[in-house]
Amino acid sequence: MGLTCNIANQRITFAAQFRYMLDKVEELIQEVKSLQAESAEIAENLRIKYLGQKGLVKGLFAEFRNVPHESKKEFGQRLNQLKNLAEEKIAELKSLTENESGSAQNELNDLTLPGVEVPVGSRHPLSLVRQEIIDIFTRIGFTISEGPEVEDDWHNFTALNFPEEHPARDMQDTFFVKNKFSDEELALRTHTSSVQVRVMESQEPPIRTISPGRVFRNEAISARAHCMFHQIEGLYIDKDVSFADMKQTLLYFAQEFFGADAKIRLRPSYFPFTEPSAEVDVWWGLENESDYRITKGTGWLEIMGCGMVDPNVLKNCNIDPEVYSGYAFGMGIERIAMNKYGINDLRMYFENDVRFLRQFSGATH
Ligand code: DAH
Repeated sequence: MGLTCNIANQRITFAAQFRYMLDKVEELIQEVKSLQAESAEIAENLRIKYLGQKGLVKGLFAEFRNVPHESKKEFGQRLNQLKNLAEEKIAELKSLTENESGSAQNELNDLTLPGVEVPVGSRHPLSLVRQEIIDIFTRIGFTISEGPEVEDDWHNFTALNFPEEHPARDMQDTFFVKNKFSDEELALRTHTSSVQVRVMESQEPPIRTISPGRVFRNEAISARAHCMFHQIEGLYIDKDVSFADMKQTLLYFAQEFFGADAKIRLRPSYFPFTEPSAEVDVWWGLENESDYRITKGTGWLEIMGCGMVDPNVLKNCNIDPEVYSGYAFGMGIERIAMNKYGINDLRMYFENDVRFLRQFSGATH
């Protein structure tokens, strides 16, 4: 009897416990339905509380084996319902709170928002023009060569046939540099023609080269002059090179740079290192006031100096003038860029005002 009674008691206890657990599940279902989370962190804590390894739902599943056989089905169904509901609800809270706290992600999700402008650097107008000139000459077989900016008297003046008392050597034009280690007097090169000499001294003809670089002159800075500027030098040495070859090459350059219908003219001039020498003008036009100003009323714009390399210069560089001849030319990059872009003050190149520099972002290179 006692035993039966005990068993009966136990059954009653089981039944009560089962009711209690079922109530607990019902309670949790209601609780889960009304869950709220203000942040992703709170949502994650809710996930741990309900669905974690030691969470409430897992705990109820562990109790499953204690449920009387006949009630297992009912209990199992309700418990699964709770689990699914909790999973859905917490996933929903997570996605809401994560989107709200991560505003960057929010922006990414909204494809209709305007894009973020990324500032892009632009190339300096002098670099653009230098590169354009280099491209034009390298297309017809010219190489690029460079020389030092601190130069000796031989390469900057003497080898280029400057007479001893030539005014270009004057203190007013040249920045002299003291050499700490010897008595030799050095100077900041006043033109890139010095590179001609270095190339001829070190290479056998045929030579076709251009030399871009910085040059320095002791001049007051103004809208039209600066103590530092850029030049491109050209040199062509071979057998039977004529003045007509030079003229044709310079016409090719002008038409590539200024347009297919560009016209040039050569005016006689003087440079110690060329004979004969000329200055090259390109036809600019004379249609409005600014054309008058730029071309000083002639319609022609001076763009470079040129000439046949003086036999004395060839000799100074150990090239036999009886066998070889050649031409040379030199142009200022600032000057050409000023005309190309309509810049009227040279100082703008070096002030690094981004409002000025930004205008050249439509780079073609
Ligand atoms: N060196 C000259 C200058 O600085 C430019 C020049 C003229 C270079 C004639 C040349 C040339 O090679 O043949 O003004």
